[in-house]
Amino acid sequence: MSRAVFDISMSLDGFITGPDQTPRALHDWADGDLEGRSGIAVPDTWRPDVFGAVICGRRTYEDSLPSWGADGPSLSRRLPVVVVAHDGGTQPPANGVYTFANGVEDALAQAQGLAGGKDITVMGGASVPQAFLRAGLLDEIKIHLVPVILGGGTRLFDNLDSESVRLRPIEVEQDDQATHLRYQVVTESGDRP
Ligand SMILES: NC(=O)c1ccc[n+]([C@@H]2O[C@H](COP(=O)([O-])OP(=O)(O)OC[C@H]3O[C@@H](n4cnc5c(N)ncnc54)[C@H](OP(=O)(O)O)[C@@H]3O)[C@@H](O)[C@H]2O)c1
Repeated sequence: MSRAVFDISMSLDGFITGPDQTPRALHDWADGDLEGRSGIAVPDTWRPDVFGAVICGRRTYEDSLPSWGADGPSLSRRLPVVVVAHDGGTQPPANGVYTFANGVEDALAQAQGLAGGKDITVMGGASVPQAFLRAGLLDEIKIHLVPVILGGGTRLFDNLDSESVRLRPIEVEQDDQATHLRYQVVTESGDRP
């Protein structure tokens, strides 16, 4: 069964955008030369051998549509994208990779149907992974921890229930642009069923 893997770039002080909502330096690590990198130091959308579908929030979709176009964040790899939105979203371009879901359970079910047995990457912004965490639907969390202090912006780990989420560290990789961290989400009965 497809696993749901949340993958995001975060500043050292816990923000996924800067104070003006722009990504600032958070994506430099992924825009540079990825030659010689593998595994968690490579964006999920570059790994169609492992990931078969993408889930994102409406704001991320609408902010990114001008650069993603019909192909979505994986560009020529054309991974299907499920956009979580309460009331639909901006009309996607013709021949686009996008479908819409009105909640995270619906988004996960649609993505599982589209992923062909591969894993699903939950790419953010912040409110969608927060909803996934509240619903206990994530199997893994990958944080690309960027060595910058933004001082404000969209905080990643907000709006969660008071119950803590336990994580098991499973991998870490360091390069000069980010520290790539991979955690398994654990439940009281062990790993997520
Ligand atoms: N640092 C990174 O790696 C990274 C990655 C991705 C995105 N980003 C940035 O993150 C920012 C957006 O993050 P965000 O948290 O503000 O927005 P978001 O998660 O992208 O989208 C928020 C929207 O998603 C819908 N939504 C969220 N939870 C829902 C639920 N449980 N059920 C139904 N719909 C739900 C709502 O749509 P409705 O308005 O229709 O209710 C909500 O307004 C952007 O600036 C983007 O550039 C950063």
